[in-house]
Amino acid sequence: MGILVFFMNYQKISPLDVTFFSSVVGNDLVLSDEEALLKFGHDETEDLVFSPEIVVKPKSTLEVASIVKYCNEHYIPITVQGARTGLSGGALPLFGGVALSMERFNHILEIDTKNGQVTVEPGVITQVLQEAVAEQGLFYPPDPASKGSCFIGGNLAENSGGPKAVKYGVTNEYVLNLEVVLASGDICWTGANVLKNATGYNLTQLIVGSEGTLAIITKAVLKLIPHPSRTMLMLVPFPSAEKACEAVSAIFREGITPSGMEFMERDALVWTANFIKDQSISIPDDVQAHLLIEVDGNDEAILMNDCEKIMAVVEKYGALEVLFADDQAKKDQLWNLRRKVGEAVKSQSVYKEEDTVVPRYRLPELLAGVKAIGRKYGFQSVCYGHAGDGNLHINIIKGALSDEMWNNELPFAIREIFELTVGLGGTISGEHGIGYVQKSYMNIPFSAVELSLMKGIKQLFDPNGILNPGKIFV
Ligand code: LAC
Ligand code: ZN
Repeated sequence: MGILVFFMNYQKISPLDVTFFSSVVGNDLVLSDEEALLKFGHDETEDLVFSPEIVVKPKSTLEVASIVKYCNEHYIPITVQGARTGLSGGALPLFGGVALSMERFNHILEIDTKNGQVTVEPGVITQVLQEAVAEQGLFYPPDPASKGSCFIGGNLAENSGGPKAVKYGVTNEYVLNLEVVLASGDICWTGANVLKNATGYNLTQLIVGSEGTLAIITKAVLKLIPHPSRTMLMLVPFPSAEKACEAVSAIFREGITPSGMEFMERDALVWTANFIKDQSISIPDDVQAHLLIEVDGNDEAILMNDCEKIMAVVEKYGALEVLFADDQAKKDQLWNLRRKVGEAVKSQSVYKEEDTVVPRYRLPELLAGVKAIGRKYGFQSVCYGHAGDGNLHINIIKGALSDEMWNNELPFAIREIFELTVGLGGTISGEHGIGYVQKSYMNIPFSAVELSLMKGIKQLFDPNGILNPGKIFV
């Protein structure tokens, strides 16, 4: 049996539909003014805008259930949205319809200190959750660069990572159980609030990373761990970007698992320092890249020992003068510089960001290959990312490139980058998701058989194709 076409004959929203949505959430929580449609028509992905026809802001699972059921029966597309900080266009309402904003689902429902779990609504800001559990001595590690504004729900939808993932893993490793609303309007829990679960198919993990295309998450039970009490942080400059990448796997081979292992090409740091107007870090002319390396734990002597071992390794790869952050203010400053790289690049030029990931040891080959493809096609790229995970964010800069090159030739260059990535044993997104902007490249990491398995799952969950249509698959 062939897979049915996902894009049905969607219905435009009528005044009757508006009356229905208003009856569920209240008049003032249904928006259709131009400003709102523009605001909810974009996320942080490039300069893309796809406006919904209407924005609806529910606050309870029952409200979500009645809206989704109605949309399913009336063939109205529904795009669930968090804080719209995503970088793959996952929250863009490509077919108009309803933008279902989860911003009013902003409650931490229970911090269970006895079991190390938290039950949270999807509209809670990631950093708010982290700070609330830290007050109880607990740690929720996933920390995307946008942690101060992104929502847990978006992190779940995209399976977000961030710098801590190198030691602690990405979002899915902290998800025990989810309450979801299905396309039919049925409400269900996907698992159980336990650390082990060998009971049937793992629906929880299927929903995580499914980008709002299978179900709508309305509650999450997340695992917490004890909060480490100490960190040490160093910024290590290198005269060669490839050597910096080679040092990464060598550090792990010494038996150390840093809690942060970030790579930044020269321009990434220079542009960010300019962007946030912080020139206090000196970046000599011979520096081509930096590693930002953090270790954490509870025992100062062990951390010191780890740092000494790291120093010995990086020296072998030609590191220049290492900057140790000797107080919290310096640590905050260095992390702030790293977290702002994405925004700094965005402020510099139109750009496209790829989120490649390879096995850690292949990172130097990926970087060299990307630069070679850049020379072939004539584009400049600025690379940075989570080197310890082999996760390289490749920012291709439009600069003075013609629109013809940007729109028509660049997709071939991106295809080459992804083929290289997959050839190195990697894949095309580590933490940003496929969403809208990467979907035409899904046939690089996956065969037709594999893609049809995924489409079959989509078909089962969402037979009318109303949930976030136009994402993940072409
Ligand atoms: C970061 C985002 C872009 O690592 O993932 O800054
Ligand atoms: Zn990242």
